[in-house]
Amino acid sequence: MADKNGYSFATWTGLIAESQIRALLKYRVKYYFAGGKPGIMPTDILADIMSDLSERYKKDPKMALEDFNYGPTGGQPWFLKTLAKRLHDVRHIPINPEDQWDAVSITNGSQQALYALLDTLIDPGDVIITPSPAYLGFLVPAVKLGARIITVPTDLDGIIPEYVEKAIQLSKQNFGKVPDIIYVVPDSDNPKGTTLPENRRRALFDIAESHNVLILEDSAYAEIQFKEPIRPIKALDKENLRVAYLGTTSKEAAVLRVGYSVLPPNVKEQVLKDKGYLDLCTSTLVQRILDEYYSKYIDLAMQKAVPQYKKRYEAMAKAIDESFPAGSRTDPTGGFFIWWQSEDTNFDSGEFMQRVAIPNDLLYVPGGPFYPQTGFSLSDDGNTLVEVRRELNTMRLGFSYADIEIISEGIERLGKLLTKELG
Ligand SMILES: Cc1ncc(COP(=O)(O)O)c(C=O)c1O
Repeated sequence: MADKNGYSFATWTGLIAESQIRALLKYRVKYYFAGGKPGIMPTDILADIMSDLSERYKKDPKMALEDFNYGPTGGQPWFLKTLAKRLHDVRHIPINPEDQWDAVSITNGSQQALYALLDTLIDPGDVIITPSPAYLGFLVPAVKLGARIITVPTDLDGIIPEYVEKAIQLSKQNFGKVPDIIYVVPDSDNPKGTTLPENRRRALFDIAESHNVLILEDSAYAEIQFKEPIRPIKALDKENLRVAYLGTTSKEAAVLRVGYSVLPPNVKEQVLKDKGYLDLCTSTLVQRILDEYYSKYIDLAMQKAVPQYKKRYEAMAKAIDESFPAGSRTDPTGGFFIWWQSEDTNFDSGEFMQRVAIPNDLLYVPGGPFYPQTGFSLSDDGNTLVEVRRELNTMRLGFSYADIEIISEGIERLGKLLTKELG
């Protein structure tokens, strides 16, 4: 149907709301616990890289001409080689950086990879399994493309593999389809901050193998780990057939809009075909900056950043424990987020944020958007599918951006307001 100017928009525009991430970026508050914005960034290193590059470009206009130009859709080979080396040496991804570096490709943020993966794998009615709750930047495009989402219960160790197995059976029974994707963020999940233990990673891989389902392993927070990191699920995928592995420079370098992935070859081909139509290529200049960073400085930068994120986390956890009313929180060992749930099941954290938190200079992300707008959940016994369940008495509290004083002050303030509201 045409709008008042006579324009006829696609049906999805009327069904899908603006991204909550974008919506919240517009607020300017003193106590910012909303988006996954990195607050500790190697700005001095990045500035040095840029001034070195500036000198090199003046001396070498040919290099400058190439770096300011279009490049290959999947990324510049020199940058892919650098990424392959890090993925192999530090993340245990089973690719040989010498001769298998072209298994790596880049996108404009891992968000673009998530979108392109959905765009190339999902027809309306296809089935996807996600944890409950899950990263909204994955859920919303999945719903937009007509996926049937089955959300699977999680606990303090993340998604529960037995329920994933049940969800696959239920998908076959109810829709006559094996799911196309199992989506997980194994290291310090968004939004709950939980980390999948090794035995669950193995179990998920085995389930995916036995049913021929692609695992989408979104490792956005893999470098921001307060304990010894656990090997990715991708480490089990020796043949590069079963796991689409995504990383991002956003959390471990800077938000330069570069994500990197190791995808099974046939998946990579389709994703890059899609990317070619979305943006032709990613900026070569940005790849040059990141190439310097990943080949020379990342270890130094992470050694500085990770302990500082840990301190921010500890300050937030302490302030929650001291000031929040009855409820429970997760206990992350990395990443950017704590998930808090009120004991009061009638509490609506979205309504509370608009009415109370924002006027008090506070911002968090209410739990609602981390559940799909439409979809299914498992019944309590796990034997049937029910309409998607949402726990609106929850909130995601980000500790990455604000400094320790602001975190302690702001969380205490939020705790007092919540206590007044909930008793
Ligand atoms: C789990 C997860 N995946 C993907 C992204 C997207 O990251 P980017 O597009 O900046 O690479 C984010 C950003 O917050 C995230 O938390």
